[in-house]
Amino acid sequence: MFDAKTFIENSLEEIRKTVGENRVISACSGGVDSTVATYLVHKAVGEKLLAVFIDDGLRREGEPEFVVRTLKGFGAKTKFIDAKKEFFAALKGKTDAEEKRKAFREKFYSTLGKAAKEEKITYIVQGTIKADVIETVQGIKSQHNVLSQIGIDPEKYGYKIVEPLRELFKPEVRMVARELGLPPEISERMPFPGPALSLRVLGEVTPEKIAVVRKATQIVEEETKQLGTFQNFAVLHNDKATGIKQGKRLYGNIITVRIVDSQDAVTAKAAQVPYKTLRKIAQRITQEIPSVVRCLYDITDKPPSTIEFE
Ligand code: XMP
Repeated sequence: MFDAKTFIENSLEEIRKTVGENRVISACSGGVDSTVATYLVHKAVGEKLLAVFIDDGLRREGEPEFVVRTLKGFGAKTKFIDAKKEFFAALKGKTDAEEKRKAFREKFYSTLGKAAKEEKITYIVQGTIKADVIETVQGIKSQHNVLSQIGIDPEKYGYKIVEPLRELFKPEVRMVARELGLPPEISERMPFPGPALSLRVLGEVTPEKIAVVRKATQIVEEETKQLGTFQNFAVLHNDKATGIKQGKRLYGNIITVRIVDSQDAVTAKAAQVPYKTLRKIAQRITQEIPSVVRCLYDITDKPPSTIEFE
C-alpha cells in the first residue's frame, strides 16, 4: 500500500541529497505533476529553487495567471518567461503528431536551458511520472519530459535532472498533493498534457487555431464541471465542413468533444454524458465561436483510441 507521508519524507531527503548546495530550476506548467514536483523541491531546498512558468501560448484560458499565482503562493522564487512567438515559430509547418511533439520538446528544453544558463543553474526538476516513462519507452508516444529513459542524454542540454515523481502513477501523485496540504484545485486538477493545446489542434498549429480550441475547451470545461470525469476537452479538426452561419453557407471548423472516465489514463472509457449537456456544449461552441459549424462527440474508448488525438 502506498503511503504518501513516508513517500514525502523519503523524497525530501533524496532531493536534498541530490541537489546539495546547488541551485535548481523547475518549469511548472500548472498540471498536477509539475506542480507537486515543484512544491516538493521548494519544500526540500527553499530559496535554492527558481520556479519558472514558460508561456508557450498553448495554455488554457486563464492558466498562465493561475500558475504564477500558485507558485507565488508557495513562496517560491518565480520567473515568468514569455516564449509565445518562439513556440509558434517552432511549430510552424509541422503537421505530423510526433513531429509536433518533438518540436515542442526541443523548444521547451532550449527555453528552459537558456533560463537555466542565464541563472547559472544546472539542476532541473521534472514532474515525470511512471506512465510517461512506460508509454514513451513502449513507443506509444514520446512524452515531452522523458529524456534519459529513451537514451537522450540531458547533459546534451547541459543539465542534470531531478524527478521526484518518477515511480508514481497519477492517483499516487494526487495522494501526495493532498498529504502536502495543497488545495483541491491542484490535487484534483484534471490532467493536461505538457504540449498543451498543440495536441488538440490537428494539423499545423497557428495562434488563430489555438484561440479557437482554447475557447471551445473553456466551454467544455464550464459545462462539464459537475460530471466528475477524468478528462474533458475539445479538439479542433484540420478538415472543414459545410454549415450555415447568419443565414449564409460557411465552410467552417469542426470541433470534437472528448470526455473520458479513467483511473490512470492507461485505459479510458468514453463517458456517458447526459444528452442535454452535449446539446448545450454544441450550441455554445457553435454560437460563441464564429468559425465553428459542427460539433461532434467522441464515443471511442482507449484502446483502441488514445485519450488525446495526437
Ligand atoms: P493518451 O493520449 O496517450 O494520454 O491516451 C494519456 C494521458 O497522458 C496525457 N498526455 C500527456 N501528458 N505530455 C504530458 O505531460 C504529453 O506529451 C502527453 N501526451 C498525453 C493525456 O492528456 C492523458 O491524460
